[in-house]
Amino acid sequence: MDYTIKLNSGYEMPLVGMGSWLGKDEEVKFKNFQQMKLTEINIEMEKIMSDAFDAGYRHIDTAFLYGNQKGIGKGILKVITDGKILRDDIFVTTKIWNTSHTYARAKEAIYENLRQLGLDYIDLMLIHWPMAFKEGDDIFPLDSNGKVIEGEGHFFEAWKALEDSIEEGHVRSIGVSNFNHKQIERLLEKAKIRPAVNQVEMHPYYQQKKLRDYCKEKGIIVTAFSPLGSPGDTNFRNKQMPNILTDPVLAEIAKKHGKSPAQVALRWAVQNGVIVIPKSANPVRMKENISIFDFKLDNDEMKKVEGLDRNMRCFNLEMCDNHKEFPFKEEY
Ligand code: A2P
Repeated sequence: MDYTIKLNSGYEMPLVGMGSWLGKDEEVKFKNFQQMKLTEINIEMEKIMSDAFDAGYRHIDTAFLYGNQKGIGKGILKVITDGKILRDDIFVTTKIWNTSHTYARAKEAIYENLRQLGLDYIDLMLIHWPMAFKEGDDIFPLDSNGKVIEGEGHFFEAWKALEDSIEEGHVRSIGVSNFNHKQIERLLEKAKIRPAVNQVEMHPYYQQKKLRDYCKEKGIIVTAFSPLGSPGDTNFRNKQMPNILTDPVLAEIAKKHGKSPAQVALRWAVQNGVIVIPKSANPVRMKENISIFDFKLDNDEMKKVEGLDRNMRCFNLEMCDNHKEFPFKEEY
C-alpha cells in the first residue's frame, strides 16, 4: 500500500499525519468556551515536531485555532536547516478560523497562517468550519444564552480567498472541514476550484459512510480527525463516548496481527482511502500510529470493524446548533 494519496489538485498527501490539537487541559489551556482565547503552546510543539519527524511523520495538521503554529514552524525550519528533510517532502495542513469568513478577513487569515508558520507556501489550507462567527478576539463569541454569535461573511467568500491564494502561489491545495454533503454541494455550484479534502471526525464508532461515499463520487479525499476517538480530550469530547481503544473486537483483530487496537482503527481508515491524523505527544505512540503499513486487514476484518459503527460523535458543538450553517443538522 502507498504511503500517500493523490489529491484532485495533483499533489500527493501522506495518508498518516500528525494531529496537533492535543486536547488536554494542561496542553491546550483553554479554560472554557466563554473565556476561550488563544493561548500559545509553541514550546511543547517544537519538541513534539522533532519527535514526530524522528518517528517518520512528514505530514502535520494544524490550524490557527490551535495556537501552536509558531512552534510547528520552528520545528519544520529546524529539520530543513539541519539538512535532514526537504521542505517539499513535508506536507503542512492548516485552517482558517470561523471569525475570518469575509473575503478580506480570510485573506488576512491566510497570510497570518503563513507568517505564524514561517513558510512561504502551505500544502493544504482548509476552511475550519462552514460557520461564520462574529469577528473579534473571542474565538467562540457567545451570547448570554451560551450560543454562538453569527458573523459577517460566508464560506463562499472564504473559499474565493483560498482560490486566489492558489493563484498567488501561497497555497497548493485547498479544502474544507466539518462540511456536510449539502454544504459541499452548494460550494461546488460556485467554486472555480474544487475542494481537494473534507476533514471530518471519523473513527470506528462514527464511520461517516454516506459522507465518504459522497466525497468519493466528487473526487474529494476525506481526512479523519480524532481517528482514535480522542480518548484524552477532557474539554470538548462527548462524555457518553466509550473508549474505542478498549473495544474487544478491535482488540481481537489487533492480537491476531500482533498490533494494537489503535493501529487497527487507523489501518481500517487508510484501507478505506481515508487520511488519518492521530495525535500523540508521546514518541512511542507516535511511532506506533505511523507503523500501519506492514499489515493488512482482510475483508472479514474490515466487515467486523464496519459492524462497530455507533453513529456517535465525540464533538457535537452544541453551542453552535443555533447557527444557520451548523453542519450537524443534516444526517451527513
Ligand atoms: P498521548 O498524547 O498521551 O499519546 P485522537 O487522535 O483520536 O484525538 O486521539 C488522541 C489521544 O489518544 C491522545 O490523548 C493520545 O495520548 C492518545 N493516543 C494516541 N495514540 C495512541 C495509541 N497508539 N494508543 C493509546 N492512546 C493513544
